[in-house]
Amino acid sequence: MYRGLTGYKLPIRTAGEPCAAFVPNPLPPEPPATWDAALFQRASVSLGRLSGVTTLLPDPHLFLYSYIRKEALLSSQIEGTQSSLSELLLFENSALPGLPLDDVQEVSNYVAAMNHGLARLREGFPLSLRLVQEVHRELLAKGRGCEQQPGEFRRSQNWIGGTRPGNALFVPPPPDHLLDCLGALEKFLRDETVPSLVRAALAHVQFETIHPFLDGNGRVGRLLITLLLCQDGVLPQPLLYLSLYLKKNRTTYYELLQRVRETGDWEAWIEFFLTGVEETANQATETVARLLRLFQADRARLYELGRAAGSAPRVHEFMQRQPVVSSPTIVAALGLSKPTANAALSLLVKLGLAGEITGQQRGRLYAYKEYLRILSEGTEPL
Ligand SMILES: Nc1ncnc2c1ncn2[C@@H]1O[C@H](COP(=O)(O)OP(=O)(O)O)[C@@H](O)[C@H]1O
Ligand SMILES: [Mg+2]
Repeated sequence: MYRGLTGYKLPIRTAGEPCAAFVPNPLPPEPPATWDAALFQRASVSLGRLSGVTTLLPDPHLFLYSYIRKEALLSSQIEGTQSSLSELLLFENSALPGLPLDDVQEVSNYVAAMNHGLARLREGFPLSLRLVQEVHRELLAKGRGCEQQPGEFRRSQNWIGGTRPGNALFVPPPPDHLLDCLGALEKFLRDETVPSLVRAALAHVQFETIHPFLDGNGRVGRLLITLLLCQDGVLPQPLLYLSLYLKKNRTTYYELLQRVRETGDWEAWIEFFLTGVEETANQATETVARLLRLFQADRARLYELGRAAGSAPRVHEFMQRQPVVSSPTIVAALGLSKPTANAALSLLVKLGLAGEITGQQRGRLYAYKEYLRILSEGTEPL
């Protein structure tokens, strides 16, 4: 639907040059946004199925560790962070030399930010500007982001695209308009007259338009989607890696952000968003099924070995939760002796299930190879 500009242009002078900043109208859109009821229904059903599948698991947290990391990686990759899933898991399990440190640190921060946000929601803390700031603080806590005022809204003008505000694609609101814009957004986050899925879609665009931080706006804006869906119980666990879709369709994603602002076409964005939710949720559900089949087949192979399998089945079980492990991790988590843990890992390597991934003598790490391969689908760097 064409609504025209979704805000107003404010002439400003920045870096000695006149230009126009954009101040968005508060949400919800006027006239109210509409969407295809059948598509909305399909997206909801797909999310419901994803949630349902995981509640049937013997351990409902089984895929949480991996799926959160997959989303963190993909969301960070959208603006060019160069890292892979195995690098992230390596990094989290040891401090190995030779890793692209800044990049992998960034993804690791993302995991911490997500976990922090989710933990706060579980405590009953509301999804609010305060929480957004806390999440941002975690996101930029370590590595190259820490000079970009972690946890603080910007006090200077920024711009998107272009080398300076004068030739930018878009100039977000000036700093002295931020609190008004953000206050309205915070209120909208609680507006239960708009279904959660649509509210998440609208809030994301609005957040990107406000661009309240010096850096990390894309990532915090995408975290906001997960946090909102989890808070509202649409997604009982953060298992939706929507960034897979946003990364794959990045050009359209960016074009639509721009189009909402310029023409007020929220409908085009909602349709894109709901399609992404449906597609990603279906894919995540299917991945759960594939992984369960893999676990089952591997379990059967170990079972056939009888007593010769030793503690390998328990280690295999553990690696279903955490696909990269070290011998000390196994010792600590399962209470095995060092020789027993090592024997189990060696057996898993011999069977081709696990592989050593550091190539070093000390601080060895083992990956559940096929699991990691399936999980890594779509995470190749752009
Ligand atoms: N034309 C646009 N209008 C609004 N937001 C945009 C536009 N193009 C890109 N973005 C958003 O800005 C984000 C990049 O901003 P940035 O603060 O660098 O975030 P991050 O560091 O997390 O990538 C993109 O991921 C996207 O979400
Ligand atoms: Mg950035």
